Amino acid sequence: MNSSLLYFLAAFLIAVLRIRNCRAGRNWNYEPVTLQAFSSDDSLLKISAKVDRLGRADFAFSMTLDWNYDADKNTMVEADVYHCTSGDESDYKLMPFSIPKQPFFEYLNAFYKDAFIKNVGHCSNLIQFEGEFTPPWPRGVYKLDKCVASGEGLPELVPEGYYKIVYNTTGQVTWGFIFVVRVTQKVI
Ligand SMILES: *[C@@H]1O[C@H](CO)[C@@H](O)[C@H](O)[C@H]1NC(C)=O
Repeated sequence: MNSSLLYFLAAFLIAVLRIRNCRAGRNWNYEPVTLQAFSSDDSLLKISAKVDRLGRADFAFSMTLDWNYDADKNTMVEADVYHCTSGDESDYKLMPFSIPKQPFFEYLNAFYKDAFIKNVGHCSNLIQFEGEFTPPWPRGVYKLDKCVASGEGLPELVPEGYYKIVYNTTGQVTWGFIFVVRVTQKVI
């Protein structure tokens, strides 16, 4: 994946992008439709997520992860982006932006470090590191607190319609979230 695709996904994925002004080049708006978190075992990983509207076109995302298990070499991460024009569940098509299924520790050294933490590091207590990540990933309560997504850094032109991002972690416990946003052209 090249870096602009990474950023595209990063922005939609959790929230991202801290600079709120300077959206001059962008001719589309987005609106969160649903954000649902899931976990197969709350005692191992409890997740909650919500969206707050900040203004006419800005949104903030908050998430709490109560992390009570030890990620290991069988812990895998995967994220897919689907697009659909109508909003009908059956019309969603997989898009070429994704994080292919990969070991959690590889994900930490790539997407997490290069894109994700750059965008949400400042509004969360998620682990930050230099160089290679050294396991273990500590148990604890991780919070993303009102991370703002302005869409800044994304392409000027994004096709209208609904985008569904499915982030899924598997292994000892299956957890993640499903985030649906609607993109509309800006009326000038
Ligand atoms: C997450 O992955 C598991 C295992 O592949 C799968 O059974 C489950 O349906 C996935 N969850 C979502 C929301 O895609």
